[in-house]
Amino acid sequence: MRLDKYVAQAMQITRSQARTMIARGGITVDGTVCKKADTALKGSEQVCAGETLLGKEEFVYIMLNKPQGVVSASTDKRDVTVVDLLQDAFPRRNLFPAGRLDKTSTGFVLLTDDGAFAHDILAPRKHVPKTYFVTIDTPVTQQMVTAFEQGVTLADGQKMEPATLIPSSTDPYSATVVLRQGVYHQIKRMFGVLDAGVNALHRSAIGGLVLDESLAPGEWRKITEAERQQIIAAQAKG
Ligand code: URA
Repeated sequence: MRLDKYVAQAMQITRSQARTMIARGGITVDGTVCKKADTALKGSEQVCAGETLLGKEEFVYIMLNKPQGVVSASTDKRDVTVVDLLQDAFPRRNLFPAGRLDKTSTGFVLLTDDGAFAHDILAPRKHVPKTYFVTIDTPVTQQMVTAFEQGVTLADGQKMEPATLIPSSTDPYSATVVLRQGVYHQIKRMFGVLDAGVNALHRSAIGGLVLDESLAPGEWRKITEAERQQIIAAQAKG
């Protein structure tokens, strides 16, 4: 592959930006500054921008703190989508949300272009837990805890897998919910059959990976490989 193409892909910049960088002496190949954009790489070279070793990432994984009012889709005619919030930071990638949060819900949305990984964290049989913080319009009761544990039957007759409901120790109207499946509007519908309405719903973790508290609503960052493993580790434990 040509050096300018490699640098553009690795740094998610345009070819012309890569060529400018190369011409200015910003790129080294095997420790030597290389100013020729058309240098042919065999694939074994170490290409660096300053101190940073550039490798072409096969896939991109993003942690986003979804604000209210944004939809979990790639494109939408009316609403701002979670992909819009990335503001073209990855022009050559087809990123999509791995799992949905309702428009009114907030919190952790994982965006990726790795279809197999997305499938793994969503497939019910993989049991990747998703953790939510919920506030309802009536106090959380022991009956609700038991119903979640036993598996709530939704109004349409669908029986949900057992889920965990942990009442908050400080607010009688709030609780943590852990689900291992993802049915449309699941938490709202589960509380619905227990005569409670959901006032706020925030996803705080996917598998063993907790949403970074330093991300304000609408902000995002890449997930490190170690963090990606944390999601998978939770999957292995079921
Ligand atoms: N359950 C819901 O009802 N809504 C969500 O956004 C996620 C889980």
